[in-house]
Amino acid sequence: MPAAQFTMDNNRPLIDSNIPELELLHRGKVRDVYAIDDDRLLLVATDRLSAFDCVLPTPIEHKGAVLTTLSVFWFSFLADITPNHLITADLDQMPELIRSREELRGRTMLVKRTKPFSAECVVRGYLEGSGWKDYKENGTVCGHSLPPGLKHCDRLLSPIFTPSTKAATGHDENITQLEFVKMVGHDAAAELKARTLAIYKKASAYALSRGIIIADTKFEFGIDREGDIILIDEALTPDSSRFWDASSYEPGHSQPSFDKQFVREYLETLDWDKTPPAPPLPPEVAAATSERYLKAFELLTGRQLVQ
Ligand SMILES: Nc1ncnc2c1ncn2[C@@H]1O[C@H](COP(=O)(O)OP(=O)(O)O)[C@@H](O)[C@H]1O
Ligand SMILES: [Mg+2]
Repeated sequence: MPAAQFTMDNNRPLIDSNIPELELLHRGKVRDVYAIDDDRLLLVATDRLSAFDCVLPTPIEHKGAVLTTLSVFWFSFLADITPNHLITADLDQMPELIRSREELRGRTMLVKRTKPFSAECVVRGYLEGSGWKDYKENGTVCGHSLPPGLKHCDRLLSPIFTPSTKAATGHDENITQLEFVKMVGHDAAAELKARTLAIYKKASAYALSRGIIIADTKFEFGIDREGDIILIDEALTPDSSRFWDASSYEPGHSQPSFDKQFVREYLETLDWDKTPPAPPLPPEVAAATSERYLKAFELLTGRQLVQ
């Protein structure tokens, strides 16, 4: 991979990006999306962190750079399975207007603008979250029947595709395979499912060899100007996936989150009702969390983001 793709951020945490010359299409929990023109978008991963669905006021140093550079790594790793939207993540290769904004360095992707499918492509290799809840209640996960007697966080014999809606606000909702087909069309449904499972198979096996379990993850796809289906958004980051430390994995109970565990543990000690505004994090919790994001990056890519 060219070294330029591993440029780090400018060492200054960024909570909200501000590019007045561009139209801000969307400020998500973590990322800010700008329109460059009809064909291109700018995805800025800030250092915002969300926990219990609330954005915290304390930035996590280098988090935006980790999300961006890890996605770039996976796009390249998965190129034999799927094309993707990345044009460049190198600030020096971006349009003039962006190039001068040092605060965007390392955390920004210039991407092909697509027409996104309205469903999220979720794949689960382990039983956690809404999958575990569904299994406990119904013995199935989104219509997939599973053997009885599985424990919390057990590994599934084979990964399952469990698409969901893309809720503009609130929680995404799981949908059936039939609803998925109705939303995206018959041919696209088969393609998205096959690609999602193929990506998960390759990426999760690799991650495991590096000490990280990707318990589940979510992809988005879109249709580009040529009419091709391409992988968009971020890919296989701690924010779009459940990462667990393989060395301490033990089914039968919930697993510590590789990246957010310190934050969750700290927030659980507070008398906070988990509705906004979220409380600030103590510096040591923020620093430990930053370390975890960097560690995930280092384990997965074999590179160091911050020297
Ligand atoms: N290449 C692309 N073309 C069109 N839309 C994209 C592309 N890549 C990402 N997006 C969209 O950008 C948005 C990113 O928002 P996100 O940061 O995930 O916020 P949220 O917290 O609302 O999920 C998503 O709606 C996603 O569909
Ligand atoms: Mg999203």
